[in-house]
Amino acid sequence: GRVVVLMGGWSAERAVSLESGRCVLEALQAAGVQAEALDPTPADLLTLKARGFDRVFNILHGTPGEDGILQGACALQALPVTGSGLQASANALDKGATKALWQQAGLPVARDVLLRDPADADPAAIAAQLGLPLFVKPAWQGSSVGVARVVDVESLRQAIADAARHPGPVLVEEAIEGGEYTIAVVGDVWLPAIRIEAAGGFYDYEAKYVSDDTRYLIPCGLDAATEARLKELARRAYAVLGCSGWGRVDLMLTGDGEPRLLEVNTTPGMTTHSLVPKAAAALGWLMEDLVLRILATTLE
Ligand code: DAL
Ligand code: MG
Repeated sequence: GRVVVLMGGWSAERAVSLESGRCVLEALQAAGVQAEALDPTPADLLTLKARGFDRVFNILHGTPGEDGILQGACALQALPVTGSGLQASANALDKGATKALWQQAGLPVARDVLLRDPADADPAAIAAQLGLPLFVKPAWQGSSVGVARVVDVESLRQAIADAARHPGPVLVEEAIEGGEYTIAVVGDVWLPAIRIEAAGGFYDYEAKYVSDDTRYLIPCGLDAATEARLKELARRAYAVLGCSGWGRVDLMLTGDGEPRLLEVNTTPGMTTHSLVPKAAAALGWLMEDLVLRILATTLE
């Protein structure tokens, strides 16, 4: 059958998604899959089946591919789509909802304040409660779009105002400074953990997609027992949100080596700078193997 690679779209991560989509399409075609790419508009989402596609490779970052909208549209057309379903996608896109579900399940997260009405925030009180430095994040964004690290109350005030220009609540979190890790899953295979070391100390948009100075360590430098413990935590975090297919769990370690879960990406980046292809390569999987395995999850 014909596979449509949905990419681009209209989120703030559009440019990243176009690059991920280009890499996915190339790999699918190299693997002999009859696939074509579509940079969708809202109207395209409900006409995929009618246009003769019978499977969707979703590589849209942010809305509508990571928030449940595409998953709902595909369900209405009985069209299989890679990755998590509607409810899990909606859970995972919202960092506030994600953390609430994890806390209910007893999983470790950074201390935070979730601002559903950011205009009413009291930056001095937040800084007094959580300490400084802090991270300020639009709760519904990816790729670090709109994220700021702040070291004083005045920059916290500004960062909250900036983050509030994005849709959804604003999340203010204590900074966790012991190291950043990410662990991906494809089908039922958990890939090796990657340690990320951004040259400027903060793995922002520039460090993710532009800089060649970001270091990615595989093996990640942790002893085998600790890595196994992080993988088990990642597996539980993914399961609690109801995720399926494939994804990538981001987490940090405190200075004392205690894990703090950050988020799950239900449509992780697949560019040449991206993490999942690097972790897959460490297992000896070519990009073709990786995209075929992701596509195969729609058959389960
Ligand atoms: N949100 C970006 C694309 C990622 O998770 O890789
Ligand atoms: Mg993300």
